[in-house]
Amino acid sequence: LDIIVLAGGISHERDVSLRSGRRVADALTGRGHTVTVLDPQAGLLADLTRRHPDVVWPVVHGATGEDGALLALLETTGIPHVGSRGGPAALAWSKPTAKELVRRAGFPTPDWIALSKETFRDLGAASVLEHVLSSLPTPLVVKPAEGGSAQGVTIVETSAELPRAMVDAYTYASVAVVEEKIIGTELAVTVIDTGDGPTALPAVEISPLVGVYSFEARYIAGDTLFYTPARISPEVAARVAETAVAVHSLLGLRHISRIDLIVDDHGTPWFLEANVLPGLTETSLVPQSIEASGQSLGAVYEALAQAALE
Ligand code: DAL
Ligand code: MG
Repeated sequence: LDIIVLAGGISHERDVSLRSGRRVADALTGRGHTVTVLDPQAGLLADLTRRHPDVVWPVVHGATGEDGALLALLETTGIPHVGSRGGPAALAWSKPTAKELVRRAGFPTPDWIALSKETFRDLGAASVLEHVLSSLPTPLVVKPAEGGSAQGVTIVETSAELPRAMVDAYTYASVAVVEEKIIGTELAVTVIDTGDGPTALPAVEISPLVGVYSFEARYIAGDTLFYTPARISPEVAARVAETAVAVHSLLGLRHISRIDLIVDDHGTPWFLEANVLPGLTETSLVPQSIEASGQSLGAVYEALAQAALE
């Protein structure tokens, strides 16, 4: 196949995207496909229309790539693309929207409050603190409503840390999500659908050595221990897989996603977020799951490219 991989873009995760894109391109080249990596910029649509590849694989993380805008534009070219369509991507990209949809479908997700920068400014830090603490138990997780790679995410143990954590989140998005922190095992579940329906790959258990699975821990090998498959019972693993597939489907995602969950002491999976274009770098979670499932990256990526043609 003649495949164009899109990587880079303008977001806080530009460098991550370049690494993911190169890795995907290498794996597909290894299977004998002709792959070109392009950094999306003005003129992209004209360029794609002129080159007219068989398939486009957008591996652009962060806004532009994951908020659905680029995906919707790609759809105007009529060239098949790997991954979710623009509309569902936009829903999943908004963490509070995804949580609301998942909660309404009957799956547990930690309680949360979403507060805009304007509300924070108008009410003042003291009122926000009171409002949050009267609604949610500590510890809390504060994160930007949109974003990836844990940028702007803070774990808040004591109330005094909350305003600063929210201001950090506003660096990345105009809305901050303050969420109850569920104590348990952090899992990332890759969902793949190459045409026979979505299936979950073995869950990756994330065990950071330095407290939090931060941006640095994500891309610097050695800062985090991973267990794939996760150290959970077969019954819990089945429940986790079922939840991840259900979330992928109810959000309308396509081909590939990564669903992040925490399993509490009772074995209940709590939905945290859905990743529309999960990281595919050397240290990312999806490649670890694929390898743990006994498949090669090349074979799975090739099957995804072929699924896009259907
Ligand atoms: N946002 C990063 C790329 C991830 O989810 O892996
Ligand atoms: Mg994410």
